[in-house]
Amino acid sequence: MLIVANWKMHPQTLSRAKVLKAASKRALGTKKMELVLAPPAVFLRDLAKSGRSARISYAAQNAHFEKEGAYTGEVSMQQVKDSGATYVIVGHAERRGAGETNGDTQKKVAAAFAAGLSPILCVGETSRDEDGDYLEELTGQLLTATLDIPKNKIKDLVIAYEPVWAIGASEAMSPNAMHEMALYIRKTLLEPFGKAALSIPILYGGSIDESNAKNMLEEGEVQGLLVGRVSTDPIRFGVLLRSLRATTTK
Ligand code: PGA
Repeated sequence: MLIVANWKMHPQTLSRAKVLKAASKRALGTKKMELVLAPPAVFLRDLAKSGRSARISYAAQNAHFEKEGAYTGEVSMQQVKDSGATYVIVGHAERRGAGETNGDTQKKVAAAFAAGLSPILCVGETSRDEDGDYLEELTGQLLTATLDIPKNKIKDLVIAYEPVWAIGASEAMSPNAMHEMALYIRKTLLEPFGKAALSIPILYGGSIDESNAKNMLEEGEVQGLLVGRVSTDPIRFGVLLRSLRATTTK
């Protein structure tokens, strides 16, 4: 079970980031659960080196696809790797909203693998329509981003399905609807990747909190969650993590 804490542009200081990490670590318990902290990039190295733990790993929230060059304000996949991260989030809705295209995610996924990072590829439709056009949007995101992944690497990809309308919203998607989406995602990747597509972890993200996390894991056919807002509140995130100790999901 993989729980990704996307801190976005929080908290304001490294000392508060350390407090948040410590609180999350305490709440982890003994269950087989990997917590991936995705702090702002400037905190990565400090957090990753202080108190390493087999159950906590790190992700960058974004990185550039070029190895190096004149890209003011960007960080490269290799730099992310060097900072102690093992994952990188690619194609988050907030990056797509700032202009990131499917073509960019394709290059970023390939660059992440080349640097030895596991990409957490975020996909999800902006809105839903009666005709099912949103499924085409999703298919395009999935098939383009994975175009350059060698078949033997697909098992190291993580997919986070995050419907944009459920991010930062008041309610998450229902676990039943997520179940359908997980089947759709696997079916879409079955053609290019064969059976290996069946073992890609699929996470759900979008308004997950301490009241709906356990249910989503048990009934949504997902192998983990990507948590935004609640992951930056040490008390609420602690309650969320503790609630997962009792899940029946493996
Ligand atoms: P949220 O964010 O949990 O605050 O809805 C999720 C995300 O953006 O990944």
